[in-house]
Amino acid sequence: MAFVITEPCIGVKDGACMKACPVNCIEGRPGDPMLYIDPTRCIDCDVCAMVCPVFAVFPENLVPEKWAHFKDVNRDYFADGGTGAPHGSAE
Ligand code: F3S
Repeated sequence: MAFVITEPCIGVKDGACMKACPVNCIEGRPGDPMLYIDPTRCIDCDVCAMVCPVFAVFPENLVPEKWAHFKDVNRDYFADGGTGAPHGSAE
């Protein structure tokens, strides 16, 4: 299982989760609307969820139904090899 960043992160992008993550599995570029968790690297430690000021981070099995698509949003962000490159990005 992994943790998932959801809707409340958009427009806030506090970054505390990224600083707290012990395995550096949270990424995002300056122009991205939010940060993303790589489910293949997440060790399910819960630190990111504890430090997020807007409660945007949930364990995969507890993501609210209205934000369920963020499981794919997070996973897909790393789908091109784990570099954090969004699909179709030329950056
Ligand atoms: Fe977003 Fe919360 Fe991290 S607002 S960047 S998930 S600390």
